[in-house]
Amino acid sequence: VAPLRVGLLGLGTVGQGVIRVLQRNADEITRRVGRPVVVTHASARDTSKAREVSLEGITILTDPMDIAAKADVDVVVELIGGTTYARDLVLAAIARGKPVVTANKALLALEGNAVFSAAREKGVLVGFEAAVAGGIPVIKAIREGLAGNRIEALAGIINGTCNYILTQMTEKGQAFADALADAQRLGYAEADPTFDVEGVDAAHKLTILASIAFGMPLNFDAVAVEGITKVTPQDIKIAQALGYRIKHLGIAKRTDSGAELRVHATLIPEDKLIAKVDGVLNTVLLQGDAVGQMGLYGRGAGGDATASAVVADLVDVARSIGAEARHLVPALAFQPDAVRALPV
Ligand code: HSE
Repeated sequence: VAPLRVGLLGLGTVGQGVIRVLQRNADEITRRVGRPVVVTHASARDTSKAREVSLEGITILTDPMDIAAKADVDVVVELIGGTTYARDLVLAAIARGKPVVTANKALLALEGNAVFSAAREKGVLVGFEAAVAGGIPVIKAIREGLAGNRIEALAGIINGTCNYILTQMTEKGQAFADALADAQRLGYAEADPTFDVEGVDAAHKLTILASIAFGMPLNFDAVAVEGITKVTPQDIKIAQALGYRIKHLGIAKRTDSGAELRVHATLIPEDKLIAKVDGVLNTVLLQGDAVGQMGLYGRGAGGDATASAVVADLVDVARSIGAEARHLVPALAFQPDAVRALPV
């Protein structure tokens, strides 16, 4: 069977993670979707830079537009970031009828209405699981698992860098600047880390979550935004002494007149589950009318965790084009021997 050919725009932390995950889990992914999923093209500004993954067999180009608009690929993965050139790249791919997978929350929060309308017109899939909460499949949970609900509200820790910094300040007494430098070194922070610490990244993600949870257009300007730069070591100590933790949350609620969207630091009683979500972990709690309260948590940033979500979208793309219907049914139904129970 012909492989699904992936054109990867950007070879940073997440791009390398995507190659690594696709290579490591190639057999399982092939079995799941009925064809191999292979990166055939990738773009990198600096082609001579050493990478942590093998780029053998991948055509490396310097201009991502050469992949989005021209290369012989079946799907384009946008990991460039930013909203200007990224928008041109994504729209160029859609114009050619190519499905797009993106981790770019800023692009979707600010330009998503245009991107999705172009995709609807062309009838192509745009996957964006990786844009919100890294490896946590919250987009799929809302769109698939909770599709029968009216979602009333959601709240969560949706910026790994802020949560990492607050955790380090609380648990280790680390200074803000040092914790931020560590988060950058670990590949959690945005290219411009002020987006993380000023709450902008969380607001991008909340915009996307609210849009799919409530069925409203993307409206970044509706979010009230505050970061963590004003949280002092003193604040953290006083909160701890009173039995609280300081967490940076994104909160979206339906109201009579629409939706209330805000991101800011919040005092959480230390015995609450959300107070214990530490480090780079994210969590999203949802309130659905049928399911009641539910929550998801996991790694919200980092190469492999975010790649997990990108690859899940690539699997969706592979299943949606040219695959036989049987691949939409769990493989075990057809291959009872593929997985053996371990002796207890
Ligand atoms: N900078 C983001 C974060 C990356 O820290 O959560 C994942 O979106």
